Amino acid sequence: MTEINSDCPVVVELVGVEKHFAGQKVLSGVNLRVCEGTTTVIVGGSGEGKSVILKHMLGLMKPDVGRVEIFGRDIATATARELNDVRRDFGVLFQNVALFDSMTIFDNVALPLRERTHDRPQQIAARVDELLQMMDLPGVGAKYPAQLSGGMQKRVGLARALALNPKIVFFDEPTTGLDVHKSNEIYRLFHHTQARVGYTAVIVSHDVPKIFKLSDHVALLSEGVIQGQLTPEEFQRSENPLIREFVETTMGPIYSSEREEAAL
Ligand SMILES: Nc1ncnc2c1ncn2[C@@H]1O[C@H](COP(=O)(O)OP(=O)(O)OP(=O)(O)O)[C@@H](O)[C@H]1O
Ligand SMILES: [Mg+2]
Repeated sequence: MTEINSDCPVVVELVGVEKHFAGQKVLSGVNLRVCEGTTTVIVGGSGEGKSVILKHMLGLMKPDVGRVEIFGRDIATATARELNDVRRDFGVLFQNVALFDSMTIFDNVALPLRERTHDRPQQIAARVDELLQMMDLPGVGAKYPAQLSGGMQKRVGLARALALNPKIVFFDEPTTGLDVHKSNEIYRLFHHTQARVGYTAVIVSHDVPKIFKLSDHVALLSEGVIQGQLTPEEFQRSENPLIREFVETTMGPIYSSEREEAAL
């Protein structure tokens, strides 16, 4: 198993994280390290604890044992104020995009800017336009979420998650409910946006994302631990039986997406 580069600037690190709920042990010593500017995808079966890991990174859950460090700071021991400061650098996109139905797309994207900055209305308007442009959604500002397709709504969610120029973006199942083509589009957009904006991304997915080759590291959560944090190529070739089994059961989608990629 190849260790990830230990010299990289570490943005998120979990060290020996254990978590149980009412006698059920979900995490039994999770070690994970995310380097600055990279994309790490955490994969694993349903109920393995992927969202629980993400909630630890966001400071919404505290480990029973172990440490969760963001920019080298243990967030389990941080005060509410320190945690709030750390979260200022976070962009979060959950599975259900959670746009506000009664607000226009413009107002949805402007929300974090209005709540978290003292920017003037013209500055906010310029930033929202820039974000919608970046997400390939020009001219939708006056519409309401229900008037957009699922894929477009995800892109609005991404625009909102990026509004404050976060240093770290956390995505939980960002493509659930989208067809293969739309999922690929979303991942490609993530990739392009990341190359442009330079944020660090942690993506959770229950299967191998369709274009997982665009990620820097893939980490399989199984049996309460990370079975390997590997490059996509290493992950596909891994001899760890749990990774092999996972790759074999999700290979179909990879091959079909490669065919689709080639056809584009
Ligand atoms: N707040 C909680 N209280 C009690 N049990 C919880 C809590 N949060 C998660 N769990 C349990 O922890 C386990 C892991 O849940 P988690 O949501 O992290 O799974 P997951 O890997 O994200 O699955 P999926 O792919 O279906 O989203 C599950 O058995 C779940 O019931
Ligand atoms: Mg989950």
